[in-house]
Amino acid sequence: MDLSEEKRRLLFSALATLAGLLLFLKLLSRRPSKRIRSPPTVKAWPPLIGGLVRFVRGPVPMIREEYRRLGSVFTVGLVNRRVTFLIGPEVSANFFKAPEAEMSQQEVYQFNVPTFGPGVVFDVDYSVRQEQFRFFTEALRVNKLRSYVDQMVVEAEDYFSKWGESGEVDLKYELEHLIILTASRCLLGREVRDKLFDDVSALFHDLDNGMLPISVIFPYLPIPAHRRRDKARKKLSQIFSDIISSRKLSGRTEDDMLQSFIESKYKDGRPTTEGEITGLLIAALFAGQHTSSITSTWTGAYLLRDQQYLSDAVEEQKLLMKKHGDKIDHDILAEMDTLYRCIKEALRLHPPLIMLLRSSHNDFTVKNREGVEYDIPKGDIIATSPAFANRLPHIYKEPDRYDPDRFAPGREEDKAAGQFSYISFGGGRHGCLGEPFAYLQIKAIWSHLLRNFEFELISPFPETDWNAMVVGVKGNVMVRFKRRKLLID
Ligand code: HEM
Repeated sequence: MDLSEEKRRLLFSALATLAGLLLFLKLLSRRPSKRIRSPPTVKAWPPLIGGLVRFVRGPVPMIREEYRRLGSVFTVGLVNRRVTFLIGPEVSANFFKAPEAEMSQQEVYQFNVPTFGPGVVFDVDYSVRQEQFRFFTEALRVNKLRSYVDQMVVEAEDYFSKWGESGEVDLKYELEHLIILTASRCLLGREVRDKLFDDVSALFHDLDNGMLPISVIFPYLPIPAHRRRDKARKKLSQIFSDIISSRKLSGRTEDDMLQSFIESKYKDGRPTTEGEITGLLIAALFAGQHTSSITSTWTGAYLLRDQQYLSDAVEEQKLLMKKHGDKIDHDILAEMDTLYRCIKEALRLHPPLIMLLRSSHNDFTVKNREGVEYDIPKGDIIATSPAFANRLPHIYKEPDRYDPDRFAPGREEDKAAGQFSYISFGGGRHGCLGEPFAYLQIKAIWSHLLRNFEFELISPFPETDWNAMVVGVKGNVMVRFKRRKLLID
């Protein structure tokens, strides 16, 4: 072999190696869109309980850290269960849209059963639960909402008429109280609101205090808080049973959720029982009371901190007063787009339900933004987190900033990124049925406050109370108020 042949061979093998390398690199660059793999698992120490310890210490910091390290799909071992997190709209569609047979709530929300009681919601088959959710839908239709709004307005006027000309109050405490009164009137009915309010509130307080983080894992643990919960539920059952019988006997009807549940019928014609009605009312109060009062407090705290948005909201009230005078009803509240965005933005930053859960009954695959596909095995608990997903920087510009205008026409950041970008009310198959009620209630309160008072926030801007089951506002929110009448020019 002469030298030039040797060179040709060397050149040929170098070219072949290079071509092979290029082909390999090309294949490698394509791999993500084809590769199907198991979600990465969070490593935690000590084994078995390490994941649980991190989770209990703070689910949101854990999600933040693992999202940064592992991406939008990852699994955490919690003792003997796997919890797979799906974070962001690209991977969570299946969570929200899959049918109950594939992605169910029943097992993961079982801990509510001793509070809501037997025969309702998570204690019944999906077919019955669906019918009971239909009762909720009917009780929250626009024609009903119209009369609830009238009651909300009366409650707000009455409550704030008791404030003096000026003073200092804990806004959080005040709004919590007003919302309990309003919820009692609209949902539980006139009898409770007018005659039994103190007794029923105390019983609801015991129910509330009986739902602890430990209750999620051991709902029937024989601890004093659970015993008080069980006693309170029995007493509530008796109270509602008496009210229902008396309404039925007298033929008297009212404009409230209780009446709507009394009149509800299953598909086969069967009417609701007294026990079911009590359970559904408790479920409604649990779903709507803390969530709404927390949201109204955050809205106030942000408006009082960020004067620009406060004056936008006040301007809107002036315009509406010019158009409609002092009157407030359902349709006028519906015109309050600026206030709506202020509430929606407070709720984006502080969703009270920080984690939503399902149990998967089927294997399924999700694809992340980079095109990597993950196989999620059946039997996993599936979780998503409004508290984290609502602040994703690829969806929301400067996600930690309070900026209600991000929802204004032209920007609409939640819509631009597609379905399930804003999940404070969940979405899809189990999206919140009380969303319109909640907005109307918070708007009714804040439109009254903006029209009738000037405020100044005198305590530091509040922090989040991560320890509560429904995550809310930590400590007091002290404000100085002065009565005023909004002048229309
Ligand atoms: C700011 C207030 C509220 C917030 C943030 C909120 C949030 C939520 C969320 C996140 C879900 C979905 C849970 C999941 O997917 O696992 C939900 C469901 C639900 N909410 Fe609300 N909620 C609020 C007010 C209300 C009110 C006032 C009511 C009733 C009066 C209500 C009734 C319901 C019901 C019945 C469901 C179950 C829907 C289903 O599973 O099909 N909510 N809510």
